[in-house]
Amino acid sequence: MQTITTVAELRRALVNFRKADKRVGFVPTMGYLHDGHLALVEASRTQCDVTVVSIFVNPTQFGPSEDLSTYPRDFLRDEKLCRDAGVAIVFAPDAQEVYPAQFETFVEPGELAKPLCGAFRPGHFHGVATVVCKLFNIVQPDVAFFGQKDFQQCAVVRRMAIDLNLPLEIVTVPTVREPDGLAMSSRNRYLGERERQRALAISRGLFAAADEFQSGERNVERLIAIAKRHLETVDRLQYLELVDGDTLKRAETPLRRPAALCAAAYIGSTRLIDNVILAWPTP
Ligand code: PAF
Repeated sequence: MQTITTVAELRRALVNFRKADKRVGFVPTMGYLHDGHLALVEASRTQCDVTVVSIFVNPTQFGPSEDLSTYPRDFLRDEKLCRDAGVAIVFAPDAQEVYPAQFETFVEPGELAKPLCGAFRPGHFHGVATVVCKLFNIVQPDVAFFGQKDFQQCAVVRRMAIDLNLPLEIVTVPTVREPDGLAMSSRNRYLGERERQRALAISRGLFAAADEFQSGERNVERLIAIAKRHLETVDRLQYLELVDGDTLKRAETPLRRPAALCAAAYIGSTRLIDNVILAWPTP
């Protein structure tokens, strides 16, 4: 495995893969890797010949009062996990390499970036779309892999790839959970033991609503109310929304199209997000 920190060096390393007509898979991350990231790597290894993982805590997607400076980092551990998982290249640029002096061109996502996290984290998806677009241009992968936990991010990135004619496939990989249901997230490490227990209210609420959906409930308000009963124990519920799976607008009763029940909640000072997809089995 190679660890590369500059765009020029990465381009040189990728030339040989391209000459050999290798299918390049790409997993963009902000590091502090967990089993959710490793599931993306595994999906890439299954579908591609070589896997590139980027590790870059992207400053443009953090608001001024968010956790950029304290975001968990452990580069040596991440490198080892990548090596053990069969990654070919870890791309770990510094902020200067990605945003050199005089950088001023951004990607501005549209309506999909406005609800849910977009409403509470102004500028977040502007930063995500910009860095993901740059990383796509730098790595030029055939396929890129994203986790479903960041449901809105997947929608924004997919739309961007279509709108900007980016020549790659976007694959969404199901959320990986701890055995008790908590969605894996680098931010889980902020939680103390008791907070960790209280955080289970989020997945429990979402699962309870998903069970009712499976039993035939199609009323949007009732499905939200079922989840909310569990989520009452979180310290601050930022949003709990049932949105259309494609447009991310509030879903309509009766549900007739795939939808996503999405939540963001604070446990202590830690903000966690999670979602479940409410969809009909494919025939
Ligand atoms: O999901 C993440 O970790 C980040 O938003 C991403 C896609 C790596 C962009 O910085």
